[in-house]
Amino acid sequence: MENENGPQEQPRDNFSPQIARVVDGVIIGRRSVRGFLPTPVSKQTVLEILDVAARAPSGTNTQPWNVIVVTGKKKFALSKELTETALDPVLDAEHAQEYCYYPERWVPPYIDRRRRVGYDLYGLLGIAKGERERMEQQFARNYSFFDAPVGLFFTIDRIMGQGSWLDYGMFLQNVMLAACARGIDTCPQAAFCKYHRIIARHLEIPNQQMLVCGMAMGYRDSEKIENTLRTEREPAKNFTRLLE
Ligand SMILES: Cc1cc2nc3c(=O)[nH]c(=O)nc-3n(C[C@H](O)[C@H](O)[C@H](O)COP(=O)(O)O)c2cc1C
Repeated sequence: MENENGPQEQPRDNFSPQIARVVDGVIIGRRSVRGFLPTPVSKQTVLEILDVAARAPSGTNTQPWNVIVVTGKKKFALSKELTETALDPVLDAEHAQEYCYYPERWVPPYIDRRRRVGYDLYGLLGIAKGERERMEQQFARNYSFFDAPVGLFFTIDRIMGQGSWLDYGMFLQNVMLAACARGIDTCPQAAFCKYHRIIARHLEIPNQQMLVCGMAMGYRDSEKIENTLRTEREPAKNFTRLLE
């Protein structure tokens, strides 16, 4: 599968229903994990995952991704400042996201889906509607990567266009799938975007790069109730028109 040029293509005749089952199993088996064990993930494994992920297609093979991997003291110092900022309304007010990940005006069906995942997650954690402080505390767990040993940050050159963001999504999904195939869990995190200035300072991100999102990576803590969350999907027939 691998030589010094990175992951290698498999011969076409290697494909079979079993391979489809394995690939589908990885895609369906991936989910966002919000509670990790301290078990480390080696640098070599992280790089292997990123090498596989970089096989993602991109318009004219531009490969617009840049990744910063944080572990240990670097991660700890960053998490500390981000958590303190997020939980302090005065400090928090100094920060704003650079791009709109979500719509400014929420309408159905998106608002309903958004509410549902929030309701289900907080429900599992026993956080009732209106328990603002507990909700904020839970949300702030984003900033310690839900205790994952590895944090990833993804940046893009500001000169790149919308299409490159499309490419980026494919790369991010590949990172999560390649990790999942190795028994390693992830949680993609837009929560970091608001604090891009703090992150840029800690990680020395040059001005021409923009933070796309962060990601927690590690081994799931199966004891954590939040990891029993299962999210729903619309079946394809509900979002597809088949025209003949
Ligand atoms: C780009 C991106 C950013 C996300 N940001 C966050 C985040 O900041 N915090 C979080 O807990 N989940 C985050 N999520 C996870 C979504 O809530 C999750 O993907 C969705 O509810 C579907 O659940 P699943 O990933 O378990 O299938 C993000 C997902 C994506 C794709």
